[in-house]
Amino acid sequence: VKHLLGIKYLNEKDIQLIFETADHFKEVINRAIKKVPSLRDITIANIFFENSTRTRLSFELAEKRLSADVINFSAAQSSVKKGETLIDTVNNILSMKVDMVVMRHPNPGAGIFLAKHVNASIVNAGDGAHEHPTQALLDSYSIREKLGDVAGKNVVIVGDILHSRVALSNIFALQLQGANVKVCGPRTLLPKHVESLGVGVETDLVKALNWCDVANMLRIQNERMDISYFPTTREYTQQFGINKNLLESLEKEIVIMHPGPINRGVEITSDVADSGQSIILDQVENGVAIRMAVIYLLASKIK
Ligand code: CP
Repeated sequence: VKHLLGIKYLNEKDIQLIFETADHFKEVINRAIKKVPSLRDITIANIFFENSTRTRLSFELAEKRLSADVINFSAAQSSVKKGETLIDTVNNILSMKVDMVVMRHPNPGAGIFLAKHVNASIVNAGDGAHEHPTQALLDSYSIREKLGDVAGKNVVIVGDILHSRVALSNIFALQLQGANVKVCGPRTLLPKHVESLGVGVETDLVKALNWCDVANMLRIQNERMDISYFPTTREYTQQFGINKNLLESLEKEIVIMHPGPINRGVEITSDVADSGQSIILDQVENGVAIRMAVIYLLASKIK
């Protein structure tokens, strides 16, 4: 496979290989010299049609730590604004002898479409409300690091499941590794047939948190909504937001995750996000090693 388009296209062995490779790169990152010369002959374009902080910087750092040549493209400052198509844009970039494209795009399936039409390795860095595979990989990797294993763990994903690519990729990744997965949120923010994904559904946050070992708190994706959804932000926070009182009232100590960006005081309060039970910044740290692993493994298919 020369692309990473979604977790849907991976199996459990692929995930274990990525994790074992990431273990090695995590050791590299912790050395005084954080670089390896592995990809000195590879050029990678990071093309982002949507805003990003973590994913874009993490991919760029991962590529540089593998010694690849890197170019960054932001649609907002490009000739896309003059009407150039996605395929023309990417083929022009590839004609500069680029080997791999990391793409974030607002349209679901954009990476799959691109992989069919251009001659390069494509990595999906988030396609609309569809998939965000490297986020799900770094999330599972962080659970493995914190709890020793993903298999058998109870993981609840809380929030706007309907518009979340993080939720879908996490559901696929966690299930492949044998975790038990529930989603929790207002019915208006759950996909209609979410049960068909093989997940449990819980609309009572306290019950969901008392069931889980890990809670992955998502933000409301207002940018993907044409209309305002019920509930209001204040109602959402009252019913689905986590705060210190709630965390301390639970029957056991759970692990708190969030993919970022956080809306502090909406889905999670600062005293939870910054608490000892939170692994939010570990997730970000692990993102670099996971992306090094993904790029390294894909590059071995094109070299
Ligand atoms: N988690 C995540 O994808 O963050 P960014 O949108 O900042 O990349």
